[in-house]
Amino acid sequence: MSARKKVTIAGAGNTGGEMAQRLAEKNICDIVLKDEPSIVETLHHGKALDSAQSGAWAGFESEIIPADSWEETAGSDVIVVTAGAARKPGMSREDLLNINAKIMRLVVEPAAKASPDATLIVFANPMDVLCHIAKDASGFARERVIGQGGMLDTARYRTFVSREAGVSIRDVHGYVLGGHTDTTMVPIVSNTMIGGMPIASLLSQDKIDALVERTMKGGAEIVGLMKTGSAFQAPATATMEMVESIILDQGRLIPCSVLLDGEYGIQNTFCGTIVKLGDGGIQQVYEVQVSDDEKARIKAAADATEELVGLIE
Ligand code: 2OP
Repeated sequence: MSARKKVTIAGAGNTGGEMAQRLAEKNICDIVLKDEPSIVETLHHGKALDSAQSGAWAGFESEIIPADSWEETAGSDVIVVTAGAARKPGMSREDLLNINAKIMRLVVEPAAKASPDATLIVFANPMDVLCHIAKDASGFARERVIGQGGMLDTARYRTFVSREAGVSIRDVHGYVLGGHTDTTMVPIVSNTMIGGMPIASLLSQDKIDALVERTMKGGAEIVGLMKTGSAFQAPATATMEMVESIILDQGRLIPCSVLLDGEYGIQNTFCGTIVKLGDGGIQQVYEVQVSDDEKARIKAAADATEELVGLIE
């Protein structure tokens, strides 16, 4: 392997495979695609080779290396954990709690041992709850355990706002905080701006309410349409923006789940807010100015996560 930075993607399902490809195309690090050889024997080897061969025309030097053992992931700068079951139609993310909690622990313990200085990004569901397991299993500080959910939910929110307003998505600025579940997500309407104008000056309250509702159920909408699994293109793209900000020390302000320490009146619970991501993971946690109602809903999201943490077997 080269002297480039190293990112491990643990879990080579649809999302993991797509993440490896997206990250390779950024050409900023080498990538290890780790999976259990016993699950689908050589799937991650095939995916890694296929992606590596796309480099001829996509123009990247990043290596993509399949791995069966944790030793091969040693010294990673970032580890993205996307191993776990995806929901099927009719299921909530919370229904995956105990199966994915077990997988998270099995993955994070050896991963953290092999790469004690890495930053962990959790992307399996129920995400905010699984961040607690990842933190516990790794023993890492709060700066190095980050949950991906807000970037994906924000992407969905901006898509629906831009379609409704009929303007470019690049001029929509709004974020989704709170929890990564259908009921605890909090699109922050109060400070959403379109081209510098408050959203409420361009869209009626009915339209805003409808797109907020659609954002909150955005994951389930895709599960219902695909029927065979959950979204992976937008999740992979969203997660690789986070990886890039860490690897290149960009200091981007990104919505993600972090162990809160008094922000929004929440203590010691993972919940979505804005953080600054750069070298070493989280460089700053912000409490965003939101309306009283939004703040109450963010607090309720953390309460729901705390309740689920207590239910882990
Ligand atoms: C989603 O929202 C899989 O949680 C993921 O699509």
